[in-house]
Amino acid sequence: MTTGITATRRGAVLAIAIDRPQKRNALTAAMYGAMAEALAAAEADDDVRVVLFHGSREVFTAGNDIEDFIDRPPSGENAPVFRFLMAVARATRPMVAAVNGPAVGLGTTLLLHCDLVYAAQDARFAMPFTQLGLVPEFGSSYLLPLVAGYQRAAELLLLGEPFDAERARAAGFVTAVLPPDQVLEAAWSAAEKLARLPKEAVRTTRALLKAGHREVVERTLLDEGGHFRELLKKPAAREALSAFMEKRKPDFTGK
Ligand code: COA
Repeated sequence: MTTGITATRRGAVLAIAIDRPQKRNALTAAMYGAMAEALAAAEADDDVRVVLFHGSREVFTAGNDIEDFIDRPPSGENAPVFRFLMAVARATRPMVAAVNGPAVGLGTTLLLHCDLVYAAQDARFAMPFTQLGLVPEFGSSYLLPLVAGYQRAAELLLLGEPFDAERARAAGFVTAVLPPDQVLEAAWSAAEKLARLPKEAVRTTRALLKAGHREVVERTLLDEGGHFRELLKKPAAREALSAFMEKRKPDFTGK
């Protein structure tokens, strides 16, 4: 049975593909588990020099599977989602992403951890946490103000509205905006370029780039996770998530 994640090795690049088209690549616990395992395998294999994330030509990912949020909310720091977040935050290999179509929730916050991000002109980003009665995750409440500046981050995280690739580039977490059919190729080409460079120099440079923020990113991620799990149980989130599944507008009166 497919988990919706395919990890494929090409040369020294490990490509992690999100592939669950019927649900717009929404991420289930099993998919987080598979991605965490793929990253662990990459860390254990010295010949893997670069990790590349991509979705399909139509969609990067619709973020966490909302049905999963309702039926199987993450229970704590052993949850597959959490293992994945930590594996990304602690990764030593450079990470490249190719983004086509919607990149919602974790689809956007993952990019804040990547080193090179190629986005299609039709990519659409969103971090709709407040709209779902939730808080930012994946260290984004720290990383987004860092790359985008406070006001821009506040707008994107407080209002939670979708934005396009040019705004994502202006916010500082997209490397280049390209025609949709060139995105994956550009990402592969950058990944292979990185893979041809001396590995120790690349890994150490990356570690130095991240060094000043590593501890605070992990602390923020834990802090956000605690709030996130608490809010997930509350009426506002239950209403927002049910409303999405029932294809209606949420009603936050009194919540
Ligand atoms: N979790 C579970 N199912 C999801 C999903 C999610 N995050 N995102 C999309 N789906 C499902 C829809 O329920 C629908 O299922 P159905 O065909 O059984 O009714 C199917 O995927 C197609 O979704 P739809 O909304 O019709 O696609 P679209 O192309 O019009 O819009 C998105 C794509 C990604 C913009 C939109 O689906 C969306 O906003 N998704 C929710 C994103 C979100 O809030 N994620 C959580 C972040 S923490």
